[in-house]
Amino acid sequence: QGYFTFDPGFMATGSCKSSITYIDGDQGVLLHRGYPIAQLATQASYLEVCYILLYGEAPTKAQYAEFERMVMRHTMVHEQIVYFFRGFRRDAHPMAIMCGVVGALSAFYHDALDINNEQHREICAFRLLSKMPTLAAMSYKYSVGQPFMHPRNGLSYAGNFLHMMFGVPTEEYKVNPIVERAMDRIFTLHADHEQNASTSTVRLAGSSGANPFACISAGIASLWGPAHGGANEACLKMLEEIGSVDRIPEFIEKAKDKNDPFRLMGFGHRVYKNHDPRAQVMRQTCHEVLEELQIKDPLLAVAMELERIALSDAYFIEKKLYPNVDFYSGIIMKAIGIPISMFTVIFAMSRTIGWIAHWNEMLSDPDQKIGRPRQLYIGASEREFTPLEQR
Ligand code: CMC
Repeated sequence: QGYFTFDPGFMATGSCKSSITYIDGDQGVLLHRGYPIAQLATQASYLEVCYILLYGEAPTKAQYAEFERMVMRHTMVHEQIVYFFRGFRRDAHPMAIMCGVVGALSAFYHDALDINNEQHREICAFRLLSKMPTLAAMSYKYSVGQPFMHPRNGLSYAGNFLHMMFGVPTEEYKVNPIVERAMDRIFTLHADHEQNASTSTVRLAGSSGANPFACISAGIASLWGPAHGGANEACLKMLEEIGSVDRIPEFIEKAKDKNDPFRLMGFGHRVYKNHDPRAQVMRQTCHEVLEELQIKDPLLAVAMELERIALSDAYFIEKKLYPNVDFYSGIIMKAIGIPISMFTVIFAMSRTIGWIAHWNEMLSDPDQKIGRPRQLYIGASEREFTPLEQR
């Protein structure tokens, strides 16, 4: 059988070398190309962070302007893509639609694509970064039966997304700068997180030399699960189920009960056992947005009280279960009117740069190999097969 380490969940397996993102889970540190996440989230735009993740250095003003121009230039999708949308049920989950339509991009960008050519990989990055907000907004518009909105390249990345989400052809959509900034910050705080399940999926899929648009679709599928990107949606659904502040203790008890599979969604993290540095910035943004928009939503009151109780409860303190990034991002998105089913789609949009940066890094490595884990076989030992007619 040869030698290998049995490591279910890859708790102790380093799958690659990477110079993109550094995490120290015990200290609550997250650095992108060496830059602390809190500084990036508060002092840089999402597109600047994308540049940093992709190229490794902060851009000069001229480099940034060119990068922004290139990204905003590719925002439209091929008109044929509209037919893919029409094939879906109106009530299809937008993540299901995203798995399909992003994968479908591979049919438009395949024959002339040479993934061993650095410039071709760069163009793939531009295309994905540009088209993800368009596809994401289209998946929402389709579900509510409104016309697809064309992108507006003169707006910011976040502003354009909000325009395509909430704009209608009959009137000019005014982007609220507070909402725009919060949206941009949500994108930044989800941009990359080293070898999480979806990024590892993209790397594994890409390690065989597969089409990058198809690989990103695989990443979207992996992200969808409630233990990963689906947590922000699951968290808001949980808040709805709790419904009122007086029912919180009942749910806290359920979460602590070993015989009950219920978990507090939006709490805990595989790597961060001290605090999630993204959650700290997100928490601050969340409180700012709620205050500035003056939204009175009983669900938000439940969220704030749940946060307070869980942070002071011995079980959560002892098990180091803090609110994670998805707890606060869900509340912000709810406050700015984004439907719950779109939460994970927005996570996927934001993480696309991380996925593509890792895919690019992997293919730039001359020692790159196809990913091929081993297994511990626990099935039947060798035995004689009896043909069907004798059984
Ligand atoms: N509520 C109640 N108990 C919990 C929770 C929770 N949210 N999370 C972990 N625990 C308990 C768990 O029951 C276990 O208890 P015991 O030691 O008595 O068996 C202990 O804490 C350790 O849990 P684990 O499942 O072994 O830890 P993990 O590192 O494998 O899981 C996690 C991490 C994020 C999957 C888990 O904390 C969880 O399911 N959280 C809720 C889902 C969630 O919010 N996920 C988003 C993660 S952040 C976004 C992203 O990176 O995708």
